[in-house]
Amino acid sequence: MTNSIARFNANTALDDTLKFQKTARTRRSFRGFLDTTVPDHIIEEVLKDSQCAPSNCNTQPWDVHIVRGQKLKELSHILHAKNDAAEFTPDFSFDMDAFYGVYGDRKNAQSKAYYEAMNVMREDKEGRRRAAALNVSFFNAPQAVFLFMPVFGDNVRTAGDIGMYGQTFLLSLAARGLGGIPQTSLGFYAATIREALGISEEMKMLFGISFGYPDDSAPGNRMHMDRVPITESVTFHS
Ligand SMILES: Cc1cc2nc3c(=O)[nH]c(=O)nc-3n(C[C@H](O)[C@H](O)[C@H](O)COP(=O)(O)O)c2cc1C
Repeated sequence: MTNSIARFNANTALDDTLKFQKTARTRRSFRGFLDTTVPDHIIEEVLKDSQCAPSNCNTQPWDVHIVRGQKLKELSHILHAKNDAAEFTPDFSFDMDAFYGVYGDRKNAQSKAYYEAMNVMREDKEGRRRAAALNVSFFNAPQAVFLFMPVFGDNVRTAGDIGMYGQTFLLSLAARGLGGIPQTSLGFYAATIREALGISEEMKMLFGISFGYPDDSAPGNRMHMDRVPITESVTFHS
């Protein structure tokens, strides 16, 4: 059956829409995973889904690295050492203070929700440091994916393409009962990760995604971020 025939089957379309709605609306970030590894054949399906992401001029500029097992443990060890020494080597800048107005409010609400879920008080600097460092433990996920990209111009459009890939990856995980967390914080160690994985200097890293089977009992999974109503984000013109 071709895609166009499938599209004209009203029942199939409705069924697929409901499944998609559920997937899109229940996807969330997980910050705690079980030790269970995701089997190769499932990772492969997620990668095939993600490969269908759209990109500017179909350039498909994603250079995707899946890391697991002993290699991930070693990488986590290295990243913890870099984190402790405050040795950050990002390819792209990230200024937490740049978010102004309502965007700053939302950023603050997200950070507050995380530390509350982790039972860390606002003034507890060491507790906050430890909770943030879970990023480089990949929140205990037994596998992570690192999204690298080539450099074109000011990189903005390529970054958009990587975002498309990342969200397709996350939705594919969600559709399969898996979970993931996109992590800019992994991008703070871009050069270190490049070296550890033997990746060319020409490839730059935007973010990584730790993923696996969510651990329902993990404190980091107690939080749920809401969204503003669509009327606050959308303007109709006619
Ligand atoms: C590109 C990107 C990078 C992110 N980086 C981090 C990160 O480094 N650490 C983290 O805990 N969450 C990170 N997040 C997760 C966001 O905080 C989360 O998506 C947001 O709060 C909305 O929550 P939800 O994903 O559960 O709907 C990132 C999200 C995106 C899209």
